Amino acid sequence: MSTSYKAVGWNRQKRRYDAVIAAGVAVYLALFVAGSILHDPDSTIETVLIRAFGTAACLTLTIVLAIGPLCRLDRRFLPLLYNRRHLGVATCLLALAHGTFAIVQFHALGDVNPLVSVLVTSTDYRSLTDFPYQQLGLLALLILALMAATSHDFWLRVLSAPVWKSLHMLVYLAYSLVVAHIALGALQAERHVILPVMLLVSVTVTLTLHGLAARGERSADADRANATFVDVCGVEEIREGRGKTVCLAGERVAVFRYDGKVSAVSNVCRHQNGPLGEGKIVGGCIVCPWHGYEYEPSSGRAPAPFTERLPTFDVRVERGRVLVRPTPRPAGTFVEPALVERGIS
Ligand code: HEM
Ligand code: FES
Repeated sequence: MSTSYKAVGWNRQKRRYDAVIAAGVAVYLALFVAGSILHDPDSTIETVLIRAFGTAACLTLTIVLAIGPLCRLDRRFLPLLYNRRHLGVATCLLALAHGTFAIVQFHALGDVNPLVSVLVTSTDYRSLTDFPYQQLGLLALLILALMAATSHDFWLRVLSAPVWKSLHMLVYLAYSLVVAHIALGALQAERHVILPVMLLVSVTVTLTLHGLAARGERSADADRANATFVDVCGVEEIREGRGKTVCLAGERVAVFRYDGKVSAVSNVCRHQNGPLGEGKIVGGCIVCPWHGYEYEPSSGRAPAPFTERLPTFDVRVERGRVLVRPTPRPAGTFVEPALVERGIS
């Protein structure tokens, strides 16, 4: 649990997830190339590849952005969230292939360094139809590369969770730049109608999902604003030694039942955001289902010598129901566990 570098811990689920991403991308690229050649046999393979990689990167970026709100709307999407970073790295690689082909095709034949050429070929920032849209693509690619380079857990620990999260929020800036890159680029040349349609679908899906998720969270927050303690479930719904994940004021909380007591902690493991509510209690500690980090349920503290701490929540048990106060206590604060009343199994 120290800050030293450890290689990615591959497991079967991660391998399957990556195989699905690789197969999906390969099928998309093959269909795109075949469709383009059939539709326009005169187009060069370089142009077709630039378009295939560019649209694939835009598609995977749209999926990356959709996963967060989908999980907030329906927790059955959560398995997609656990390895979302892999899809982000795939997006970066696809965008890199697109950018490299585009630079070789349009900027490698002159006397100027190709990268400098991207920056100086067009600088008419006031014209919509001559806007230097490739510079927007280059900036988006730099952001995606920065995020891919810092996607490993090592950087999460080195930078601390808040800094890492702020850095990765730049994905929204990258997406806006990509949308402007595609829209302004399309104004400068004949494009097949499929391109504006794909872009419109991408923007509509992204805005709609984020809007729906935000509305759902606002109304849930409003419902709970006056509630000191919220009824989250019946005691019998939690198996002995196991947890249940509930959503309170937009935060996922893991409620555990063990040795006739109930405690609640944040559902987010300090290691790699694993879902603690899906873990179990072993030897008096919550064990994360992903890589086995441990926490005391009453204080949210990892047992010595480890130092990870989770926010805790006040809990009560009344007439067989578990009540949790939605406001978290500072990470590592001891909270007296609620006692399960006799007669409840
Ligand atoms: C170094 C960075 C980049 C450069 C130099 C670049 C260059 C270009 C060029 C020249 C085109 C027009 C190609 C054509 O005439 O068909 C284009 C279009 C496009 N770009 Fe980029 N781009 C870059 C980054 C990106 C990124 C990061 C994305 C998405 C994540 C992206 C997505 C697209 C898409 C979807 C199109 C429209 C499809 C097409 O016409 O190729 N680009 N880009
Ligand atoms: S996410 Fe790795 S131990 Fe919890």
